[in-house]
Amino acid sequence: MKRTAFAAVSSIALIASSAAFAEPQAEVLHWWTSGGEAKSVAVLQKEFADNGGTWTDMPVAGGGGDAAMSALRARVLSGNAPTAVQLKGPAIQEWYEEGVLANISAVAEAEGWADVLPASIAGHMKCEGEWCAAPVNVHRVDWIWANADVLEANGIAMPTTWDEFNAAAAKLQAAGVIPLAHGGQAWQDATVFEAVALGILGAEGFHKAFVELDEATLTSDAMVAVFDQMRTMRGYVDANFSGRDWNLATAMVMNGEAAFQIMGDWAKGEFMAAGKVPGEDFLCASTPGEGFLYNVDSFAMFDVDGDDKKAGQDLLAKLIVGPSFQEVFNLNKGSIPARTDVALDKFDTCAHLSADDMKASSENGSLLPSYAHGMALRGAQSGAITDVVTAHFNSDMSSADAVAQLAQAVASSY
Ligand code: BGC
Repeated sequence: MKRTAFAAVSSIALIASSAAFAEPQAEVLHWWTSGGEAKSVAVLQKEFADNGGTWTDMPVAGGGGDAAMSALRARVLSGNAPTAVQLKGPAIQEWYEEGVLANISAVAEAEGWADVLPASIAGHMKCEGEWCAAPVNVHRVDWIWANADVLEANGIAMPTTWDEFNAAAAKLQAAGVIPLAHGGQAWQDATVFEAVALGILGAEGFHKAFVELDEATLTSDAMVAVFDQMRTMRGYVDANFSGRDWNLATAMVMNGEAAFQIMGDWAKGEFMAAGKVPGEDFLCASTPGEGFLYNVDSFAMFDVDGDDKKAGQDLLAKLIVGPSFQEVFNLNKGSIPARTDVALDKFDTCAHLSADDMKASSENGSLLPSYAHGMALRGAQSGAITDVVTAHFNSDMSSADAVAQLAQAVASSY
């Protein structure tokens, strides 16, 4: 009995040591293909190569990652999972439950992740107590971006309430400027919707609606008001919004064709990649209302064979959470580091605002997971909500009907 146990232990030690000497390989599935995103992922590719790794890129274009997730499912179903995958929120645990994720606790423990990651982030990275994903950053979703010159030329300040936003938009429209740059894709509709919902429902109402899926909140008058505001905003987008990619909407703000965009701070990555300066060329502010919607990008490692791939997974996980990568990557990506011990000296005013607001919201209970970016709910539930949001935005559906459909879609999504 003892001999068998020992033999098992020593063969594990052998595997571990041969993996340590194998040349790290990784095929990495991600959806970072826009200008700012590509610059950011290049930082990881370079660090991986500098540390002896060979990176095989598997980019799947499509903001928000819907296309990437379909590609992932196809690969896993065909028994050929990629080594590492950009994956986040409850989808991590969903994949874990399918028995296809690798356990990366050995790296996490050796690197002391528990000491440098906030508990709210660490919780998303664990599966039944083991580490099963590595966090890259904290993106904030509830941002409004603006072209500084356009606002100045029209005598408009950054709106601090939705009424102010509507007044500014009407004024801009009368002056021939597109008030809101938007891309009509379901995930972008959902992004705007959740920012409006946070502002109108408040942090507690948002939690009840999009974390607890509380029926009374989903059908409340406040939710009717959220859809009313969406209908108003539909009037502020241009005629060609349908299907437009998010980064093209950001470009419309950059070149002054449009005044505002409501989008997570990956949009800042686009402004920065184009050499634009925050506070001068473009302005950032949180969308009207209290709270902070977080969206943490992370990578999960899939169960694969081969010491070289396992070594690649260990190296990637280690680099991703390492302090130098967290700084350089996030300077490019528009987000802030997930680690709490990375100095923000090199970061701009928008990043500082994000870090300060994240701290304050975590203290006062208004730090909330983004539903639109897969942090709050499992896929079936978030998908059910987004279907209604998009159907409403793209038709003349009344707010009352939208609310009724919302509650019904959620109820039948389990
Ligand atoms: C991701 C970001 C990405 C954005 C647009 C979000 O869901 O978290 O990293 O830049 O989608 O593609």
